[in-house]
Amino acid sequence: MDTLTLGFTPGDGIVVTGAGSGIGRAVALGAHAAGLQVSAWDLRPDGLDELAGQGLHTAVCDVADADARAEALAATTAALGGVPRYLVNNAGPSSQVPLDFDEAVRISVGSVRGLTQDWLDAGPPDGAAMVVTASVAGNKVGTESDWYSASKAAVMGYVRHLAAHHADRIRANGIGPGMTDTPRLAGFAESEMGHRILARVPLKRMGRPDEMAGPILFLLSPLASYVNGVFLPVDGGWTVTQ
Ligand SMILES: NC(=O)c1ccc[n+]([C@@H]2O[C@H](COP(=O)([O-])OP(=O)(O)OC[C@H]3O[C@@H](n4cnc5c(N)ncnc54)[C@H](O)[C@@H]3O)[C@@H](O)[C@H]2O)c1
Repeated sequence: MDTLTLGFTPGDGIVVTGAGSGIGRAVALGAHAAGLQVSAWDLRPDGLDELAGQGLHTAVCDVADADARAEALAATTAALGGVPRYLVNNAGPSSQVPLDFDEAVRISVGSVRGLTQDWLDAGPPDGAAMVVTASVAGNKVGTESDWYSASKAAVMGYVRHLAAHHADRIRANGIGPGMTDTPRLAGFAESEMGHRILARVPLKRMGRPDEMAGPILFLLSPLASYVNGVFLPVDGGWTVTQ
């Protein structure tokens, strides 16, 4: 992605979860290019090493674990010199993983609510904003996984709650990626199902991670200062063809 400043104040802090791969990695690198101080969090350390090598702060953290979240937020606040102004709740399990429904909702929705609440309790500065990576599987449907569609719909309900009831402290928005070419969907475009689904995408291809990062960073940024509570599909036009 080209360097975008989007009205961000250089040096402002941002936490990106699930930053070791795919969409989160692209958001972390885009935010770094925009001059933000980035703290990249992930469950797995391997993807974080490269980001640390580029000067980003990193934290190994399972966002579904309350103690780990608190520890990572404290370490991030110390490293960045204050509570970050921006939060990207991007981490979430793949829809292809068979999970118990209740546990999956706890992981997928509870982690978003838990981290956002921790961050609000810590006191982010004025102009704070949060974006969640939801999915078109939440506002429409698109996967055989019951917990995935339910969880992605639920995180948008939480976003709307924040937008309506906590607008004095933050703006909250969500994006709905369509099929995006990240490691979890490796080989998808070439599969029979991939051909079938992509034939119904007006742009006739998967999205790239950087094509998700741009809209996420825009929604966080001062350029979007009057955008609050929206769900932005980023799906090559798939939603309008349904
Ligand atoms: N790829 C798609 O087509 C697509 C479509 C719609 C929505 N999404 C959503 O986008 C987000 C990112 O997905 P991606 O495609 O970039 O996947 P990815 O697998 O490339 O990256 C996800 C990263 O999140 C990390 N992660 C998973 N659970 C975590 C946890 N509990 N705590 C901390 N880190 C955790 C993983 O280790 C991984 O590095 C997910 O929420 C996913 O549901 C993806």
